[in-house]
Amino acid sequence: MQLFLDTADLEEIHTGVEQWGVVSGVTTNPTLIAKAGQDHETQVKRICEIVGNVSAECVSEKKDDLIPEGRRIASWHENVIVKVPMTWDGLAAAKVLAGEGVRINVTLCFTVNQALLAATVGAYIVSPFVGRLDDINQDGIRLIRDIVAAYREQGVTTKVLSASLRNPIHVQDSALAGADIATMPFKVMESLVTHPLTDQGVARFLADYERAGAGRASAAGADARAKPDLRSDYRTTQEPKAVEAPQGQAAAKA
Ligand code: E4P
Repeated sequence: MQLFLDTADLEEIHTGVEQWGVVSGVTTNPTLIAKAGQDHETQVKRICEIVGNVSAECVSEKKDDLIPEGRRIASWHENVIVKVPMTWDGLAAAKVLAGEGVRINVTLCFTVNQALLAATVGAYIVSPFVGRLDDINQDGIRLIRDIVAAYREQGVTTKVLSASLRNPIHVQDSALAGADIATMPFKVMESLVTHPLTDQGVARFLADYERAGAGRASAAGADARAKPDLRSDYRTTQEPKAVEAPQGQAAAKA
Protein backbone atom coordinates (compact mmCIF):
# COMPACT_ATOMS: atom_id res chain seq x y z
CA MET A 1 0.00 0.00 0.00
CA GLN A 2 1.38 3.40 -0.97
CA LEU A 3 1.29 6.21 1.58
CA PHE A 4 0.08 9.66 0.52
CA LEU A 5 -0.19 12.85 2.55
CA ASP A 6 -3.55 14.62 2.59
CA THR A 7 -2.28 18.18 2.73
CA ALA A 8 -1.24 21.20 0.67
CA ASP A 9 1.37 22.28 3.25
CA LEU A 10 4.81 22.33 1.59
CA GLU A 11 6.75 21.86 4.81
CA GLU A 12 4.76 18.74 5.70
CA ILE A 13 5.27 17.37 2.20
CA HIS A 14 9.03 18.03 2.30
CA THR A 15 9.24 16.18 5.62
CA GLY A 16 7.25 13.19 4.40
CA VAL A 17 9.06 12.87 1.09
CA GLU A 18 12.64 13.90 1.80
CA GLN A 19 13.13 13.43 5.54
CA TRP A 20 11.02 10.34 6.16
CA GLY A 21 11.20 8.94 2.62
CA VAL A 22 7.84 7.17 2.82
CA VAL A 23 5.48 9.47 0.90
CA SER A 24 4.83 8.75 -2.77
CA GLY A 25 1.95 11.13 -3.41
CA VAL A 26 -0.28 13.90 -2.13
CA THR A 27 -4.01 14.48 -2.18
CA THR A 28 -5.41 18.00 -2.03
CA ASN A 29 -8.93 19.33 -2.01
CA PRO A 30 -10.36 22.87 -2.11
CA THR A 31 -10.40 23.05 1.71
CA LEU A 32 -6.69 22.16 1.96
CA ILE A 33 -5.73 24.56 -0.86
CA ALA A 34 -7.63 27.37 0.88
CA LYS A 35 -5.71 26.61 4.10
CA ALA A 36 -2.36 26.85 2.27
CA GLY A 37 -3.16 30.49 1.40
CA GLN A 38 -1.85 30.39 -2.21
CA ASP A 39 -3.67 30.29 -5.51
CA HIS A 40 -4.51 26.78 -6.67
CA GLU A 41 -2.17 26.58 -9.67
CA THR A 42 0.90 27.95 -7.86
CA GLN A 43 0.45 25.60 -4.91
CA VAL A 44 -0.16 22.48 -7.01
CA LYS A 45 2.88 23.22 -9.17
CA ARG A 46 5.04 23.62 -6.06
CA ILE A 47 3.81 20.31 -4.67
CA CYS A 48 4.49 18.61 -8.02
CA GLU A 49 8.11 19.71 -7.82
CA ILE A 50 8.45 17.75 -4.57
CA VAL A 51 6.54 14.54 -5.32
CA GLY A 52 4.71 12.64 -8.07
CA ASN A 53 1.01 11.68 -7.96
CA VAL A 54 -0.58 14.94 -6.85
CA SER A 55 -4.38 14.97 -6.84
CA ALA A 56 -5.78 18.42 -7.63
CA GLU A 57 -9.53 18.89 -7.48
CA CYS A 58 -11.88 20.56 -9.98
CA VAL A 59 -14.41 22.97 -8.53
CA SER A 60 -16.88 23.08 -11.46
CA GLU A 61 -20.13 21.17 -11.25
CA LYS A 62 -21.30 20.74 -14.82
CA LYS A 63 -19.71 18.39 -17.33
CA ASP A 64 -19.16 21.17 -19.84
CA ASP A 65 -17.23 23.18 -17.24
CA LEU A 66 -15.45 20.22 -15.67
CA ILE A 67 -13.88 19.09 -18.95
CA PRO A 68 -11.99 22.33 -19.74
CA GLU A 69 -11.15 22.79 -16.05
CA GLY A 70 -9.77 19.23 -15.91
CA ARG A 71 -7.68 19.82 -19.04
CA ARG A 72 -6.33 23.06 -17.58
CA ILE A 73 -5.39 21.43 -14.24
CA ALA A 74 -3.78 18.46 -16.05
CA SER A 75 -1.65 20.89 -18.09
CA TRP A 76 -0.07 22.34 -14.91
CA HIS A 77 2.31 19.43 -14.44
CA GLU A 78 2.77 15.82 -15.53
CA ASN A 79 2.51 14.67 -11.89
CA VAL A 80 -1.07 15.95 -11.60
CA ILE A 81 -4.02 13.59 -11.16
CA VAL A 82 -7.30 15.40 -11.80
CA LYS A 83 -9.94 14.95 -9.12
CA VAL A 84 -13.62 15.06 -10.09
CA PRO A 85 -16.66 14.55 -7.85
CA MET A 86 -18.79 11.41 -7.81
CA THR A 87 -21.73 12.89 -9.72
CA TRP A 88 -23.14 12.10 -13.17
CA ASP A 89 -21.46 15.24 -14.48
CA GLY A 90 -18.21 14.31 -12.78
CA LEU A 91 -18.29 10.79 -14.21
CA ALA A 92 -19.12 12.02 -17.72
CA ALA A 93 -16.24 14.51 -17.57
CA ALA A 94 -13.97 11.78 -16.18
CA LYS A 95 -14.76 9.57 -19.16
CA VAL A 96 -13.79 12.27 -21.65
CA LEU A 97 -10.63 13.27 -19.76
CA ALA A 98 -9.53 9.67 -19.16
CA GLY A 99 -10.02 9.06 -22.90
CA GLU A 100 -7.53 11.86 -23.53
CA GLY A 101 -4.98 10.18 -21.26
CA VAL A 102 -5.56 12.31 -18.13
CA ARG A 103 -5.22 10.39 -14.85
CA ILE A 104 -8.50 10.78 -12.95
CA ASN A 105 -9.31 10.44 -9.26
CA VAL A 106 -13.06 10.16 -8.63
CA THR A 107 -13.56 11.53 -5.15
CA LEU A 108 -16.31 11.46 -2.49
CA CYS A 109 -17.10 7.76 -2.98
CA PHE A 110 -19.38 6.19 -0.34
CA THR A 111 -20.72 2.99 -1.94
CA VAL A 112 -19.53 -0.02 -3.94
CA ASN A 113 -21.83 0.99 -6.80
CA GLN A 114 -20.21 4.41 -7.00
CA ALA A 115 -16.80 2.71 -7.11
CA LEU A 116 -18.00 0.49 -9.96
CA LEU A 117 -19.11 3.59 -11.87
CA ALA A 118 -15.70 5.21 -11.39
CA ALA A 119 -14.07 2.08 -12.80
CA THR A 120 -16.47 2.03 -15.74
CA VAL A 121 -15.46 5.52 -16.88
CA GLY A 122 -11.77 4.61 -16.71
CA ALA A 123 -10.76 6.34 -13.46
CA TYR A 124 -7.15 5.80 -12.40
CA ILE A 125 -8.13 6.16 -8.73
CA VAL A 126 -11.34 6.01 -6.71
CA SER A 127 -11.40 7.68 -3.28
CA PRO A 128 -13.75 6.14 -0.68
CA PHE A 129 -13.96 8.36 2.44
CA VAL A 130 -13.55 6.17 5.52
CA GLY A 131 -13.73 8.76 8.33
CA ARG A 132 -16.79 10.56 7.01
CA LEU A 133 -18.68 7.24 6.93
CA ASP A 134 -17.57 6.41 10.49
CA ASP A 135 -18.79 9.89 11.49
CA ILE A 136 -22.35 8.94 10.53
CA ASN A 137 -22.23 5.56 12.25
CA GLN A 138 -21.38 3.51 9.16
CA ASP A 139 -18.36 1.25 8.65
CA GLY A 140 -15.80 3.02 6.45
CA ILE A 141 -13.25 0.21 6.47
CA ARG A 142 -15.89 -2.28 5.46
CA LEU A 143 -16.50 -0.14 2.37
CA ILE A 144 -12.80 -0.39 1.45
CA ARG A 145 -12.90 -4.17 1.87
CA ASP A 146 -16.06 -4.46 -0.26
CA ILE A 147 -14.74 -2.25 -3.07
CA VAL A 148 -11.46 -4.19 -3.16
CA ALA A 149 -13.40 -7.48 -3.30
CA ALA A 150 -15.72 -6.23 -6.06
CA TYR A 151 -12.81 -4.88 -8.10
CA ARG A 152 -10.89 -8.18 -7.75
CA GLU A 153 -13.98 -10.14 -8.74
CA GLN A 154 -14.45 -7.96 -11.83
CA GLY A 155 -10.79 -7.67 -12.80
CA VAL A 156 -10.87 -3.85 -12.35
CA THR A 157 -7.50 -2.03 -12.33
CA THR A 158 -8.69 1.30 -10.85
CA LYS A 159 -6.69 1.94 -7.65
CA VAL A 160 -8.55 2.08 -4.34
CA LEU A 161 -7.35 5.11 -2.34
CA SER A 162 -8.50 4.98 1.25
CA ALA A 163 -9.25 8.62 2.16
CA SER A 164 -10.55 10.64 5.08
CA LEU A 165 -8.37 8.65 7.50
CA ARG A 166 -8.42 10.05 11.02
CA ASN A 167 -6.13 7.78 13.04
CA PRO A 168 -3.42 5.09 12.72
CA ILE A 169 -5.92 2.25 13.10
CA HIS A 170 -7.65 3.49 9.94
CA VAL A 171 -4.31 3.14 8.15
CA GLN A 172 -3.54 -0.43 9.24
CA ASP A 173 -7.14 -1.49 8.60
CA SER A 174 -6.97 0.02 5.10
CA ALA A 175 -3.92 -2.12 4.39
CA LEU A 176 -5.62 -5.25 5.74
CA ALA A 177 -8.69 -4.44 3.62
CA GLY A 178 -6.50 -4.38 0.51
CA ALA A 179 -6.38 -0.63 -0.34
CA ASP A 180 -3.76 0.31 -2.93
CA ILE A 181 -3.12 3.73 -1.37
CA ALA A 182 -3.88 5.39 1.97
CA THR A 183 -3.92 9.18 2.23
CA MET A 184 -3.73 10.80 5.64
CA PRO A 185 -3.08 14.07 7.46
CA PHE A 186 0.52 14.73 8.53
CA LYS A 187 -0.30 14.10 12.21
CA VAL A 188 -1.65 10.63 11.46
CA MET A 189 1.42 9.71 9.42
CA GLU A 190 3.68 11.01 12.16
CA SER A 191 1.95 8.72 14.65
CA LEU A 192 2.56 5.57 12.56
CA VAL A 193 6.13 5.13 13.82
CA THR A 194 5.35 5.62 17.50
CA HIS A 195 5.34 2.89 20.13
CA PRO A 196 6.36 3.30 23.81
CA LEU A 197 8.34 0.03 23.77
CA THR A 198 10.31 1.25 20.73
CA ASP A 199 11.22 4.46 22.57
CA GLN A 200 12.18 2.54 25.72
CA GLY A 201 14.17 0.02 23.67
CA VAL A 202 16.18 2.70 21.88
CA ALA A 203 16.92 4.45 25.18
CA ARG A 204 18.06 1.23 26.82
CA PHE A 205 20.33 0.20 23.92
CA LEU A 206 21.97 3.62 23.94
CA ALA A 207 22.44 3.55 27.71
CA ASP A 208 24.08 0.09 27.55
CA TYR A 209 26.33 1.24 24.73
CA GLU A 210 27.41 4.29 26.67
CA ARG A 211 27.94 2.31 29.87
CA ALA A 212 30.19 -0.17 28.06
CA GLY A 213 32.21 2.69 26.59
CA ALA A 214 31.80 1.16 23.13
CA GLY A 215 31.51 4.52 21.40
CA ARG A 216 34.64 5.90 23.08
CA ALA A 217 36.76 2.88 22.14
CA SER A 218 36.00 3.05 18.41
CA ALA A 219 36.20 6.85 18.32
CA ALA A 220 39.72 6.70 19.76
CA GLY A 221 40.67 4.05 17.23
CA ALA A 222 41.97 1.88 20.06
CA ASP A 223 42.27 -1.81 19.33
CA ALA A 224 41.27 -2.66 22.85
CA ARG A 225 37.66 -3.69 22.44
CA ALA A 226 35.20 -2.42 24.98
CA LYS A 227 34.65 -4.97 27.68
CA PRO A 228 31.01 -6.04 27.86
CA ASP A 229 29.25 -4.71 30.94
CA LEU A 230 28.02 -7.86 32.62
CA ARG A 231 25.70 -5.82 34.85
CA SER A 232 23.86 -4.56 31.79
CA ASP A 233 20.11 -5.16 31.87
CA TYR A 234 20.27 -6.15 28.23
CA ARG A 235 22.76 -8.97 28.78
CA THR A 236 21.07 -10.35 31.84
CA THR A 237 17.60 -10.29 30.34
CA GLN A 238 18.29 -11.09 26.67
CA GLU A 239 21.08 -13.69 26.60
CA PRO A 240 19.86 -17.24 25.95
CA LYS A 241 19.85 -19.47 28.98
CA ALA A 242 21.62 -22.87 28.85
CA VAL A 243 19.08 -25.52 27.97
CA GLU A 244 18.94 -28.38 30.42
CA ALA A 245 18.22 -31.85 29.07
CA PRO A 246 14.95 -33.31 30.33
CA GLN A 247 15.42 -35.75 33.20
CA GLY A 248 14.37 -38.84 31.26
CA GLN A 249 16.79 -38.13 28.44
CA ALA A 250 19.70 -37.51 30.79
CA ALA A 251 18.97 -40.79 32.56
CA ALA A 252 18.79 -42.70 29.26
CA LYS A 253 22.20 -41.35 28.18
CA ALA A 254 23.73 -42.32 31.50
C1 E4P B 1 -9.06 12.93 0.13
O1 E4P B 1 -8.66 13.07 -1.01
C2 E4P B 1 -9.65 14.02 0.91
O2 E4P B 1 -8.90 15.19 0.68
C3 E4P B 1 -9.61 13.80 2.40
O3 E4P B 1 -9.11 12.54 2.74
C4 E4P B 1 -10.83 14.23 3.14
O4 E4P B 1 -10.65 14.01 4.51
P1 E4P B 1 -11.63 14.62 5.63
O5 E4P B 1 -12.91 13.82 5.60
O6 E4P B 1 -10.89 14.43 6.91
O7 E4P B 1 -11.85 16.06 5.25
